Amino acid sequence: MKQTVLTLTEKKQHGEKITMLTCYDYTMAKLMDSAGIDMLLVGDSLGNVMLGYPDTISVTMEDMIHHSAAVARGIQNTFLVTDMPFMSYQVSVEEAVRNAGRLMKEGRASAVKLEGGTEMAETIHAITKASIPVVAHIGMTPQSVNAFGGFKVQGKTLASAKKLVSDAKAVQEAGAFAVVMECVPAKLAEYITQKLTIPTIGIGAGNACDGQVLVYQDMLGMFEDYRPKFVKQFGQVGAEMKKAFQEYQQAVQEGTFPAKEHSYQIPEEIITLLENES
Ligand code: KIV
Repeated sequence: MKQTVLTLTEKKQHGEKITMLTCYDYTMAKLMDSAGIDMLLVGDSLGNVMLGYPDTISVTMEDMIHHSAAVARGIQNTFLVTDMPFMSYQVSVEEAVRNAGRLMKEGRASAVKLEGGTEMAETIHAITKASIPVVAHIGMTPQSVNAFGGFKVQGKTLASAKKLVSDAKAVQEAGAFAVVMECVPAKLAEYITQKLTIPTIGIGAGNACDGQVLVYQDMLGMFEDYRPKFVKQFGQVGAEMKKAFQEYQQAVQEGTFPAKEHSYQIPEEIITLLENES
């Protein structure tokens, strides 16, 4: 079944969990779509896991469009959300709407995601007024890593918990149709989830959220530069891949690959004629 803003909203109303994974390319998109994942996120985490940056700050609009369009070509039913990269929506509301439009037109996204709460309400409102669905992202927002002084759990004090509650309400009020909550204590995420009518998608926010998202390289055990506490590895694909690479290396060196069944044949007499002519 094709997922839309309506089917995703209904999932919350019916108490059905929403699944979301990050995705950055065509092949993975086809696999995740056929597995029935509800939402794919072309996250700016591609800066870390695809491009090797230490954070998401350097990711550009062109990076996001390039990967979003590739994912869009691989999906049929999954709902595609693409991240607005750092400084593509913070300078002015007008620029934010224009860039959100580019992610839809050139990146073929079905919605955009941007980081920030109350301070982004006007921007979210303007983007949704342009008929572009918005997913908000509050809590630990990686584009603010320098302002936070590191990747830290948010909402642990009364003041910061209150700020998160008002951020969640503000983005809903502004028109966001869903909100990602990252690195938020489970009980606080549960409280916020109960207060909102839009779905909450958690990452490091406990299991009471309406849905969950993970970076696919993390959940497949492919990315070992660092492993946040909230990551569960649902497979050891990285180890499997390394084993296959080593077996390939050995087979080529030993001359056992390619074998006859991997090679194209030619009649012997053609080779004989070739040799006779030279
Ligand atoms: O960029 C990303 O992958 C994200 C998720 C961590 C939610 O924003």
